[in-house]
Amino acid sequence: MPCTVIAGGFWGDEGKGKIISYLALKDKPDLCVRTGSVNAAHTIWHQGKRYALHMVPGGFVYEKCRLLIAAGANVHVTQFFKEVEETKVQNRIGIDNQASIIEEKHSSQDKTSAHLKGLGTTGWGVGPAIEERVRRTAKTAKDVPELQPYLADVAKETNEAINAYKKVILEGTQGLLLSLFHGTYPYVTSRDTSASAICSEVGVGPTRIDEVMVVLKSFITRVGTGPLPGEISKEEAMRRGWFETAAGTGRERRSAPFNFELAKKAVMINGATQTALTKLDCVYSECKGAKDYEKLSKEAREFVKEIEKQTGTLVTLIGTGPEALDIIDRRK
Ligand code: IMP
Ligand code: MG
Repeated sequence: MPCTVIAGGFWGDEGKGKIISYLALKDKPDLCVRTGSVNAAHTIWHQGKRYALHMVPGGFVYEKCRLLIAAGANVHVTQFFKEVEETKVQNRIGIDNQASIIEEKHSSQDKTSAHLKGLGTTGWGVGPAIEERVRRTAKTAKDVPELQPYLADVAKETNEAINAYKKVILEGTQGLLLSLFHGTYPYVTSRDTSASAICSEVGVGPTRIDEVMVVLKSFITRVGTGPLPGEISKEEAMRRGWFETAAGTGRERRSAPFNFELAKKAVMINGATQTALTKLDCVYSECKGAKDYEKLSKEAREFVKEIEKQTGTLVTLIGTGPEALDIIDRRK
């Protein structure tokens, strides 16, 4: 693994949290660095407990992993402390000095702006917080007294870890199609969500990355407004077992069948070296809990092969259930 970037391929909620928690338990990374902001929730099932993390990196499940929040990230102080308490990571989490702060006023601005409401934002206030950062009036982590014990130079720590051949995960949030640059503009979030942007938020150059893993779900979901090719009705989604609600906001997710053109775009723009496919059991129920590729049904294997053929990447991890270890691992 040495330095691996994990990026979402669709509209977020592909199951990055699950993939990261698996890698953390299996590969025992030294460092896991989170990017993005509080609008994204990563769902992790660990030892029978469900976590929906908006701030703490998913690598927390491996108790020796150092956890960092990147300079390009955006920190919600109350949510940070709530999750630090819940995950008990006080002694191993750090925030970059220059990460910007998202405040209550940003959330009110987000919820009352007619324009932002029309986009169906999460209401956390990330757009207004980023606007302030661009105006260079935002507070940063080093301005907040309660955060002093957690301050870190994340770019330096991460680059030094890579120099020392340690194992590093850079954790992306949301997905390519919510990217401010490459997504379904204007129905997008307030940042670029691609692998390059993940590196940039952390402060790691593109030559330092060994693997880019794009996470694709076996069907597609999106919350909020904006196009969703092949969208099916809620009734049909329930019938197929695809109906989901958002981990963070509780909103109903819209859904559609897997889309090869979108998968190809995600692999191309992220420069993916491999692909992780989640929720295969939601499309092929006979695959639930499988740990062995050969045990998958013929149809499920055909689907995986088609993804490999069309995207030109190997599907190395396949999710077959919610727990971190419900995975078929085809890596060498
Ligand atoms: P904002 O990021 O809250 O400004 O919302 C902009 C768009 O991105 C809306 O369509 C949101 O539903 C979507 N969005 C933001 N974060 C996530 C996420 O973590 N998962 C899925 N959709 C998200
Ligand atoms: Mg999510």
